[in-house]
Amino acid sequence: MSPKLLSQTLGALLLFSSCESKITDHVSLIPQPNNVEILNGSLPIAKIATVNLPSSIFAMPDSALSIIRNGGLQHLAIDNANAVINFTENKSLAPNAYTLNINNGKINIECADYSGAFNAIKTLQQLIATAGNGMLPNVAISDSPRFQYRGLMLDCSRHFWTVDELKESIDQMSYFKLNKLHLHLTDNNAWRLYMEKYPELTEKGTFYANFPELSGKYYTKEDLKEVVRYAALRNIEVIPEVDMPGHNTALLAAMPNLSCNGGTFEAYPEEMPLNQRRRGNENMICVGNPQSIAFVEDVIKELVDIFPSQYIHMGGDEVPTTYWESCPKCMSLYKKQGFTKPGQIQDYFTKQVSDLTRKYGKTMIGWDEIDERGVATPEDVVMVWRNDGVEQQKHALSRNIPIIMTPQHGCYYDWGYAGNSTRKIYEWEPIDSTITADKHDLVKGVQACLWTERVATQDRLEWMLYPRITALAEVMWTEPGKKNWESFYERINAYYPIMASLGINYYEDDALNETEFAPTDEKPALVRHAHIETNIPQNFPYHPEYAFDGRTNSFYWGGTSVGKDHYFTILLGEPVNAKEIEVITGDSKDYITMADLLVSKDGTTYEKVGVFNDLGEAKAKLDGSAIKAVKIQITGQHTCWPIIKEIIIK
Ligand code: ACM
Ligand code: ZN
Repeated sequence: MSPKLLSQTLGALLLFSSCESKITDHVSLIPQPNNVEILNGSLPIAKIATVNLPSSIFAMPDSALSIIRNGGLQHLAIDNANAVINFTENKSLAPNAYTLNINNGKINIECADYSGAFNAIKTLQQLIATAGNGMLPNVAISDSPRFQYRGLMLDCSRHFWTVDELKESIDQMSYFKLNKLHLHLTDNNAWRLYMEKYPELTEKGTFYANFPELSGKYYTKEDLKEVVRYAALRNIEVIPEVDMPGHNTALLAAMPNLSCNGGTFEAYPEEMPLNQRRRGNENMICVGNPQSIAFVEDVIKELVDIFPSQYIHMGGDEVPTTYWESCPKCMSLYKKQGFTKPGQIQDYFTKQVSDLTRKYGKTMIGWDEIDERGVATPEDVVMVWRNDGVEQQKHALSRNIPIIMTPQHGCYYDWGYAGNSTRKIYEWEPIDSTITADKHDLVKGVQACLWTERVATQDRLEWMLYPRITALAEVMWTEPGKKNWESFYERINAYYPIMASLGINYYEDDALNETEFAPTDEKPALVRHAHIETNIPQNFPYHPEYAFDGRTNSFYWGGTSVGKDHYFTILLGEPVNAKEIEVITGDSKDYITMADLLVSKDGTTYEKVGVFNDLGEAKAKLDGSAIKAVKIQITGQHTCWPIIKEIIIK
């Protein structure tokens, strides 16, 4: 060996040898990989200059290169012969699975296809983002997701998200390895899917006479194809939803002939006060009218043309039967078919839509009402959403019907953080303990849902989703035995600056580490002897007493949106010498923002001592004399259901 070669070899040994110690004892990744081993030694990030992009994995190497470069490797170049980052095809791995080994100055990644490669890239980017001192620890990671379906639904009807905004959401969700984007394209408020055969759909279905600035927002075929293309490069499949047979005021605004009784319908934006909305007298498609199913077929053809996904979501939620029951066409169908329950009209429609979806080679997804009377089959997919979803899950799995879990408790992020806290989500288990192992594969995955009635901007959208959707990402990815709240809590704090650098407007939750509040049927003890009076109906079992139990992580939740006549009063058992009163209502949402804070010294007459601010808080300094009651008097119409976390008397 020449002296030069000897010194190079010694240098390499020193740099990469196993006698080098570990530079860290843990890595900070979200979601937590299923197998991580930290090895001795490390790799300077500055040395990661080249990558191979084999055509067997990368159909579009240039696009892939720019995606990899984005995560802190701006100068990376393709070098298929001698690369630091080496991708190798390994067909024995499952889709989305990968191995990533950093050792001996190389990063070796194995995967079966692009989905695994993309997940490895995200892991590498997170390793780089969380590295200290510009060094990556040597690691051996072998990882695959618990669920193949890791979704996010965005409601594009109640508020419109531009193609650029959808791309932002795609970038953000892909960072945490979510891989399905479900677009809720139609609802009462707007029909956002342009169809050449029916241009009036988007013309009238997004037209609001008094809101010109909100009108005319919809997606062309090219827009949606661009979203599909952009998402696919980020390992995300886009699943369209056209919600039928209910939720269709905007459709009927353009095609009143598809309603049971004709008449006029108007789409309406959420910005229009409830009492000004002219909805027509129903929002249902007439199932007894053969034109309806012909129209559904045209919709399916359009979706098939745009979306390569195997799935088409056809809605099926919240379908009242009252209008059908008074429609001659629907009732004639009812009699002809020998139905005995009005709900069978929905089932008839569901079956037709399911057959049509299959005719075009696709699989129908429907909200869990499609299975209410057991009409779904193993050829459909039921998306479980109501309450905690346990009953619907058991009902579907007992008949071998695949499901996607997106129950309100755990997955609905139009709820504020009080109702679905990050910790509650993290600790939620999507498969009920009574389900036997042979049925687990039927649970295709888990999805976050963001309904956007009260979410009008991209900033607000991100605030509702982050950080809690990253907790759900770990539920979706990491085996239950490998999850750990304390570890996640530490990691999420480390990811706040990373989210900021990704441009995510996350919500920094003061209560992040608080154990989940689980209301019980039984009322809690009050912090002081008192009696509570309110005319706001209760969202059971979030009892009013939770607002005065001495804890800020428990809360009262009203069961309706509140207006001017609503009040919430604490009548104290004994007079209290009070120097200050503080009221904390919802945190991220469901605040009380239009209300006065009043106190009473005699228990009958009240004086105003404060008003609520835009963050749903009120504070009043008092003179220390005795008070007998504290009252919240609502002064304006809210759209949310109010939460009161605590009324604190000092
Ligand atoms: C739904 O939340 N109506 C599916
Ligand atoms: Zn009808």
